[in-house]
Amino acid sequence: MMATWIRVVVLVMACLVPASVDSKVRRYNFDVVTKNTTKLCSTKPIVTINGKFPGPTIIAREDDTLLITVNNHVDYNVTIHWHGVKQFRNGWADGTAYITQCPIQPGQSYVHNFMLTGQRGTLFYHAHIFWLRATLHGAIVILPKPGVSYPFPKPREEKVIVLAEWWKSDVEAVLNEALQTGLTPSRSDTQTINGYAKPTLSCPSERGYTLQVEPGRTYILRVINAALNEFIYFKIAGHNFTIVEVDASYTKPYNTDTVLIASGQTTNLLLTTNLGTGKFMISASPFKNKIIATGTLHYIGTSNDTATIVLTPIRPSEGASTPLVDNITDALRSLNSKEYPATVPLKIDHSLFFTIGLGMKSCPTCTIGIRVVAHINNITFDTPSTSLLQAHYFNIKGVYTDDFPANPPNKFDYTGIQPINPHTMHGTRVYRLPYNSTVQLVLQDTVRLALESHPMHLHGFSFYAIGSGLGNFDPVKDPKNFNLIDPVERNTVSVPAGGWLAIRFTANNPGVWFMHCHIEVHTSWGMTMALVVDNGNGPNESVLPPPPDLPKC
Ligand code: C2O
Ligand code: CU
Repeated sequence: MMATWIRVVVLVMACLVPASVDSKVRRYNFDVVTKNTTKLCSTKPIVTINGKFPGPTIIAREDDTLLITVNNHVDYNVTIHWHGVKQFRNGWADGTAYITQCPIQPGQSYVHNFMLTGQRGTLFYHAHIFWLRATLHGAIVILPKPGVSYPFPKPREEKVIVLAEWWKSDVEAVLNEALQTGLTPSRSDTQTINGYAKPTLSCPSERGYTLQVEPGRTYILRVINAALNEFIYFKIAGHNFTIVEVDASYTKPYNTDTVLIASGQTTNLLLTTNLGTGKFMISASPFKNKIIATGTLHYIGTSNDTATIVLTPIRPSEGASTPLVDNITDALRSLNSKEYPATVPLKIDHSLFFTIGLGMKSCPTCTIGIRVVAHINNITFDTPSTSLLQAHYFNIKGVYTDDFPANPPNKFDYTGIQPINPHTMHGTRVYRLPYNSTVQLVLQDTVRLALESHPMHLHGFSFYAIGSGLGNFDPVKDPKNFNLIDPVERNTVSVPAGGWLAIRFTANNPGVWFMHCHIEVHTSWGMTMALVVDNGNGPNESVLPPPPDLPKC
C-alpha cells in the first residue's frame, strides 16, 4: 500500500520536472539498512546505504534532476543531506533534521527531488542527524553538461576517494555518553580511505585501499573529507598534485605535495603518474591522532612483492594554524574566467560579525559538574522539535525567533590570553535576510578553551572567502587586503585557530539555511545557527511548495 503510494508520488513528481533539452532525470534508490562490517579485526553492525560503506556514488551532470528515494529500514530517525547542493528555492530536499524537514522515521520513505542547477564538481551526501553520518555518506560526482569540457586537460580516468573515520564502538553510544557526562567524546579508532583502514597482517581482511594506475597518465582524484571530527592531510609518496577544484568550484591550478581537507570539504586533484613503476604509500592523517589510514598507489605491472615506498605522514599538533593550512587557504583562487566568472558582491547590505568558540556551563548531573558547550555570538543553538523551514513556510509561531545578533553581544579581546567571555545563552534564533541582499560575514575564532580551527559550512549557497588572518579582525585595516577579484568559492571554510575569516555572498536563495561547524562534536554542542532568506517579489523568487511526502514530526 505504502509502496504503491510512494510510486504514485514519484511518478507525479517526475511529471512536474521541467523538461529541458539536455537535462536528464536520474533515479536512485537508497535503502538505509544495518550491515555487519569488519574493521580493525572486529565486527559490528553499522548503518549503511544499500549495505555499502562508503555509500554508492551518485554520478550526474550539471542541470540534471535527481529523484532519490530514501527508505528507512533501521531503528533510528534518518535524514540525508546533499552537502553543497544549493537546492535553489527547494530547502525541502536539503535533508537537515529539524532545520528543513522532520526526520524520516523507521519504516518510512522520502523522495528527494532536486536539480543540480549551475553546479559541477565533487560534492557528497551524508546523514544530517546526530552522528549517523559516520557511516551514512557517499560521493556526488557532477560532470559538466554534455559537450562542455573541463578547464584543464582531460584526465585518463577519474577516481573517487572518500576519507572517513571509524569507531570500534557504536557511534551513537559515543555521542550519548559524551552528552550525558558533559565530557569530550572519544576519538575515532582509525581513519579510512574508501572504507579501508590500512594493511594489517593480523587480520587479512584489512588490506588497505589500492589505487591501480597506468604509468604516464593524468588522473583526477575526487577527494572528500567525510570524517565526523577531523581535518585530514592527504599525501601520496613521491607524487605531487595539482588542485583544480574545491567544493564544486574550479580553481586556478595550484601545485602541492600535501593537501589539507577540512571535514565537509572536497578537493579535486590532478595526479600525474610519472614514476612509471612501483608501489607508493597513500596516507590520510588527521591532526594529532596517531592512527593514520594508509593505502597504496600501485602502478599496473608492478609485482605484488615489490616494497612500497613509504612516506612520513604529517602530524601537526592539535588544531594548530600551521603554515600549510594558511598557505593553501590563502593561495587558492577561483578561475574568474569568461565561462566561470567570480561574482563577488562589492556593495554590502548586511555586514555580520560572528564569534565562534567553546564554553563551559554548569551541569550538576555531569561527571565534573560542568559541560562543554559551543556557540556562535554567545548563543548555543537549541534544536527545535519542528523544522524551521516548515515553521517559516506555514508561519507557525513559537518555533524560532528572528533576533540572532549581527554582532557579538559583548565585545572582548577574542584571541587574548584570558578572554572574558560571558556565559553562553541558549536559543533557537535565526538571522533574517531580504531576498537578494548582499552579505559579508566575518567569522572570528575565540580562544576560550582550545585552540582549534573550525570548518564553517553554509547550506543553500557557496560563498567567496575574501580574506583571513590571525588575531582579532580589524574592521579598518583588514578589509584593505580583501581579495574581491578572484577569491576561492567554497561551501566550507576553515576559520584559522585564533584568527578570523571573511566571506561574501548574495542571498538569492529563499528558505532556511543551516550554518554550522562541520566538526560534528561542535555541532552537537551547539555551534550552529540558521539564516532565513525571505521570498522576493518576482515569479521565481519564492520557496517552492513542500512535496506531499515530506516527513512529519
Ligand atoms: Cu555537511 Cu550541515 O552539513
Ligand atoms: Cu568547530
